[in-house]
Amino acid sequence: MHVIDMALLLLILLTMFLQEHITSIEACNKLTPDFYSESCPQLEHIVQTVVKAAVLKETRMAASLMRLEFHDCFVSGCDGSLLLDDTANFIGEKTAKANIGSLRGYEVIDEIKAQLEIECPHTVSCADILALVARDSIVEVGGPTWTVEYGRRDSTTANLTLANLDLPSALISGPQLIQNFASKGFNLQQLVALSGGHTIGFARCAPIAPSLYGPLTDENSMNTAYHTFLEKACPNGSAPSLIPLDDGTPGKFDSSYYTKLLEGNGALHSDRIMIDESGRTVLEYVSLFAKDQECFFNDFAKAMVLMGRLQPLTGSEGQIRTNCHFVNPPSKLKTIPKTFNHKLPLRTPAADLHP
Ligand code: HEM
Ligand SMILES: *[C@@H]1O[C@H](CO)[C@@H](O)[C@H](O)[C@H]1NC(C)=O
Ligand SMILES: *[C@@H]1O[C@H](CO)[C@@H](O)[C@H](O)[C@H]1NC(C)=O
Repeated sequence: MHVIDMALLLLILLTMFLQEHITSIEACNKLTPDFYSESCPQLEHIVQTVVKAAVLKETRMAASLMRLEFHDCFVSGCDGSLLLDDTANFIGEKTAKANIGSLRGYEVIDEIKAQLEIECPHTVSCADILALVARDSIVEVGGPTWTVEYGRRDSTTANLTLANLDLPSALISGPQLIQNFASKGFNLQQLVALSGGHTIGFARCAPIAPSLYGPLTDENSMNTAYHTFLEKACPNGSAPSLIPLDDGTPGKFDSSYYTKLLEGNGALHSDRIMIDESGRTVLEYVSLFAKDQECFFNDFAKAMVLMGRLQPLTGSEGQIRTNCHFVNPPSKLKTIPKTFNHKLPLRTPAADLHP
């Protein structure tokens, strides 16, 4: 009786703790799944159609597209800043070390944006497009699904310095990797789950060569046959080969990435450090996800929702870009509320609309 009472009390306390924890996360989350249900009910259909066609044309596109969300959200939040082009007097994030010559799929985002500007003009942000495209890409190659939250607005700025600081490099150390994800609010379990994004897609020789020919010395975390395979495929860092990040099934979203990693077939240094220099807990999550794909899918989906909540611009912050490549040109209409001055006689905005 005593033991049962104790257990019950503990259960109640635990439930209260979890409830509190959940509501505190919910309370500051301004994004909602039904944000566009009135203003652009066609959104999910349009995006799914374009993503499906792009992935049918080239399976790898699913990987390239979902990676855009990661590289947008980890740099000043999910604000579409990644998509801004450099101009004569503006430097964006596209030339950051982790992005240049590496990111792909911008043209698919353009196609989606163009269709949305016809169906529901000036309504859907580029940041929200990236969040939805990531989900649909993963679903298209057999991964888990989740409910996408919307309401992000687009930045009018970007920060190349921050992109170079916050996007992890393949040459990162275990402790640095843990620190990088912790600084975005992710624990070890979420770090391992999100790294499972590497169950699809490819790497160039550039990030792989340093593990083979120095300065890194991580032969020990690779099996000999795999090491030889990489040396043949990448005789130097500029060889044109593409190396599957999941040595088993690079076109399928599954848990094979973890299995291969444990076998010593991890393509990137940043993958391999999870099994040899990030501590026991991280290694245990790798083993767990290798054995239990359903558990991986669950944790991955949850972590992607959390990634999508990183520092969004909401309400009247930022803007809805008409073209994801550029900040909207200054418009008279949009400056009215900002220059509104109570000391001046009131003018109706309509007068400004029709001068
Ligand atoms: C843990 C830290 C991470 C590091 C250091 C890292 C690094 C890299 C590197 C070096 C590449 C190859 C790029 C190239 O050769 O051009 C790559 C590719 C990729 N990354 Fe990551 N990544 C990390 C986490 C993630 C996360 C969290 C996701 C998504 C959830 C992700 C998704 C991808 C995908 C899908 C590709 C393949 C892209 C393609 O084939 O076009 N990565 N990553
Ligand atoms: C960009 O980010 C860096 C690093 O956080 C910061 O020092 C710098 O002030 C930022 N630049 C702009 C223009 O916001
Ligand atoms: C790198 O390897 C590729 C493929 O074998 C070769 O064509 C190229 O000449 C090599 N480049 C350098 C700089 O050694």
